[in-house]
Amino acid sequence: MVDVILGLQWGDEGKGKIADFLSPSYDVVARFQGGPNAGHSLEMNGIKHVLNTIPSGIFHPECINLIGNGVVIDPVRLREEIMRTETAGASVRENLHISRKAHLILPCHKLLDAASEAARGENKIGSTLRGIAPTYRDKSGRSGIRIGDIFLNDFERKYKETHFRSMALVQQYLYTDFDLNQLEEEFFTAVEYLREFKFVESEYFINNLIGQGKRVLAEGAQGSMLDIDFGSYPFVTSSNTISGGVCTGLGIAPKKINKVKGIFKAYCTRVGGGPFPTELNDKTGELLRKIGNEYGATTGRPRRTGWIDLVSLKYAIMLNGVDELIMMKSDVLSGFEEVLAATAYKVDGVRTTQIPFEVCEAIIEPVYESHKGWSEDLTGIRDFKNLPKSFKNYIEFVNQSLEAKICLLSVGPDREQTIVMA
Ligand code: GDP
Ligand code: IMO
Ligand code: MG
Repeated sequence: MVDVILGLQWGDEGKGKIADFLSPSYDVVARFQGGPNAGHSLEMNGIKHVLNTIPSGIFHPECINLIGNGVVIDPVRLREEIMRTETAGASVRENLHISRKAHLILPCHKLLDAASEAARGENKIGSTLRGIAPTYRDKSGRSGIRIGDIFLNDFERKYKETHFRSMALVQQYLYTDFDLNQLEEEFFTAVEYLREFKFVESEYFINNLIGQGKRVLAEGAQGSMLDIDFGSYPFVTSSNTISGGVCTGLGIAPKKINKVKGIFKAYCTRVGGGPFPTELNDKTGELLRKIGNEYGATTGRPRRTGWIDLVSLKYAIMLNGVDELIMMKSDVLSGFEEVLAATAYKVDGVRTTQIPFEVCEAIIEPVYESHKGWSEDLTGIRDFKNLPKSFKNYIEFVNQSLEAKICLLSVGPDREQTIVMA
């Protein structure tokens, strides 16, 4: 049985916190797509940990953590992450398993990401510069390298082929701002380091575990609105972030998927370029950024902020087949006199509840519904019945608008600051 937790907005919804919170109910936590563009924050006993490629079950000693075939791995960053996570007390060597079929991010992929972003100028995607798009491009172009290749005799030949092909493109961009020797030295040192870890034929590994009745939590990265097919293309990431990606990113059949848990913030954020209909470029937006501490966990970039967008949430719920909703960062909205929620758009003046194809080009104006705010601090509340009335009304409104039910509520970054709804 496989349950899924994934983001319904533009990433950074709080997937790491909730995957960690839910881990005791699962035997396996598995990442199925993305790579070190992800930054998943976990907070426990007052200490914050950020994971990029390692699944968020790693702090639970009984939990198997799997990096699936759909993930792209930067050995340099994974090595650093393993060292830091081990220092924080996790048993990474024992509990981390890596799919041999996961593709490798090479130094040339990172350079190509930087070069193509620089060339786009004003129109840049705002990528995390982790080499994600060039690596997935080589994967679908059938010229990528998989991490299992590091054990094969022709690894060096494969590396050189991919490297020189990409470097020719880097040169075309006239991009020269790098020290290749240093990047390659770090890369090969990290590859050697990773050799000692547990590599698996992950599709057999996970299907065997499922066959033994083990419970698996598939942990998404990024968010549904950054999906390569359904996000605001081209301002997206390069993988399928939606529940469909679980099957291809882990090698499991659709019928093995049980519950899909969709996670969203009580408002909205986005990092990087692309449309964001409810964005607030004003004092309220600044306040949301400040109170919500909206700065990227991976890159430290300030996140764009805005009111909750029920039109895109409904779209994401449809795409993913969401069974349960999880609402995060409700505490951040305390103190706002009114809380707005977009229930429709006006696209070039015409009202709609659908996301238009020309989402990147059209002028989209959100149609808002206003709700009375609440002033009470929510961060210490652990029981639904103690929540302020106007906040309960807001939850009810969101449930009804989305035709789904909020089952978990987060009122702070710590593991403990989580309310299970009856
Ligand atoms: P992820 O990428 O989906 O795992 O999310 P991130 O870790 O990038 O971003 C979520 C941020 O919000 C992190 O800094 C979390 O520590 C923090 N966070 C998570 N849940 C809550 C919450 O309910 N309230 C507040 N104030 N912060 C939260
Ligand atoms: P988590 O898992 C938020 C965004 C980037 C950029 C676009 C493409 O922490 O939620 P990429 O590096 O993937 O080529 O960048 O996607 N992006 C994220 N935004 N959270 C993430 O991950 C993201 N991963 C990528 O900012 O706009
Ligand atoms: Mg994040």
